[in-house]
Amino acid sequence: MAETSCSALLLFGATGDLSRRMLLPSLYALHEDGLIDPTLRIVGTARSEHDDAEFREFAAQALSEFLPPDRKDETKLASFLDRLQYQTLDASNVDGFGDLAKKLGDTSCGLSIFLSTAPALFEPTIQGLRNAGLAHDNVRIGLEKPLGNDLASSRRINDAVAAGFSENQIFRIDHYLGKETVQNLMALRFANMMFEPLWNSAGIDHVQITVSETVGLEGRKGFYDDTGALRDMVQNHMLQLLALTAMEPPRDYDATSIRDEKVKLLRALRPVKPEEMVRGQYRAGAVKGESVNGYLEDLGQQSDTETFVAIKAHVDNWRWQGVPFYLRTGKRLAERRSEIVLQFKQVPHNIFAERGGRLRANRLVIRLQPEEYVRLQVMAKEPGLDRGGIVLREVNLDLSLTTAFAKARRRIAYERLLLDLIEGEQTLFVRRDEVEAQWKWVDAIRKVWESGDHEVKPYASGGWGPNAAIALTERDGRSWND
Ligand code: BG6
Repeated sequence: MAETSCSALLLFGATGDLSRRMLLPSLYALHEDGLIDPTLRIVGTARSEHDDAEFREFAAQALSEFLPPDRKDETKLASFLDRLQYQTLDASNVDGFGDLAKKLGDTSCGLSIFLSTAPALFEPTIQGLRNAGLAHDNVRIGLEKPLGNDLASSRRINDAVAAGFSENQIFRIDHYLGKETVQNLMALRFANMMFEPLWNSAGIDHVQITVSETVGLEGRKGFYDDTGALRDMVQNHMLQLLALTAMEPPRDYDATSIRDEKVKLLRALRPVKPEEMVRGQYRAGAVKGESVNGYLEDLGQQSDTETFVAIKAHVDNWRWQGVPFYLRTGKRLAERRSEIVLQFKQVPHNIFAERGGRLRANRLVIRLQPEEYVRLQVMAKEPGLDRGGIVLREVNLDLSLTTAFAKARRRIAYERLLLDLIEGEQTLFVRRDEVEAQWKWVDAIRKVWESGDHEVKPYASGGWGPNAAIALTERDGRSWND
């Protein structure tokens, strides 16, 4: 057990959806595996009135719904529920924080806070924590997105948090960084010799990053319509994937080295031109054989919020000069898929040309979800005597991470992130300068949209977004990896 384990973990928004689906099941998994100190108390807080017993009942239901059957050990479930306590709190009113502090008792040996509240509650919450003596040196605070909706509001939130906590106490969550496959990207790049010499504009023609989803609004009408795909997915998850794919090798696997490299990369992003961006909104269609409504019907009102974005991004540094990064993400697309594709350059000369041999450039496909694999597409000769010419075909060099590590337990991102928060390990959390670099780039895109002459293009649910997104690659003589 790490010596830094805290005496208490405080969950704001404890009766919310994230808590039910992710946080409580993740904490149970850590408990079941003996990864958190047996003395750590977990205190939930939210506006709704509950006592400890009711909160335990709420947690028990969440666990029965969201834990896989093979993870339900009755004895451990009971001891997990014993850890839970609850304090009702209206976070907009600083007065209630005194009762919260009383409930928490002595936190001098350590307190971890997980804050997932509406952005408007950030400032009063930090103020309340400070007033109640819950912002001392031995407190860490995890912040769930959305951390603002533009650079200015994100700065306000960061300033409010900085008034109570120093940067090494602040853990900004991007749950993509908690995904095993995203961390594997660093292993692939920096634990192997073969990729790095080609990982630049000499070896790579372009990069594609796709995060496609089949779900639509999912009952988050208000939030999503105010946010849109650019701020919901590109500003955070997609840019983090881009940064990890394109950053320079860090000195060490530690929070400062990795985040220094990411922020350098994020600051090197070139502002996007209007013709390099596409925004779309889903219409009715069929996803995986089922007919679904369009966004406006789902929402029940008019809106020009985008549910799809495609961008041709550029990184202005030596390594990536002339290499476009095509990004796309959207709801109600053909399939759920997160992947990074590196398209290598063509060989300089085709020695098979006169024998009819046609070449395709190599592709490295890093599939993050739902499957987890790394696939290198290489050219091979079809077996035969080749009297009619040499036939070359693409074959896959496949590394299935699911198969290679079949015995390893698959953990959801929040297990990792909550444990890191409790133990004070910041590597997989986003530093303030990164968040601000991300917002700066995204704000410039929104400015183009808000100028009024960049329309939202409709697309049929179940496809790959508006035609303009397909044209974004095709007019460069390239194609998405579909
Ligand atoms: C969240 C977004 O951050 O990420 C959601 O708010 C999105 O809109 C989700 O559905 C996707 O996460 P994952 O882990 O399912 O790819």
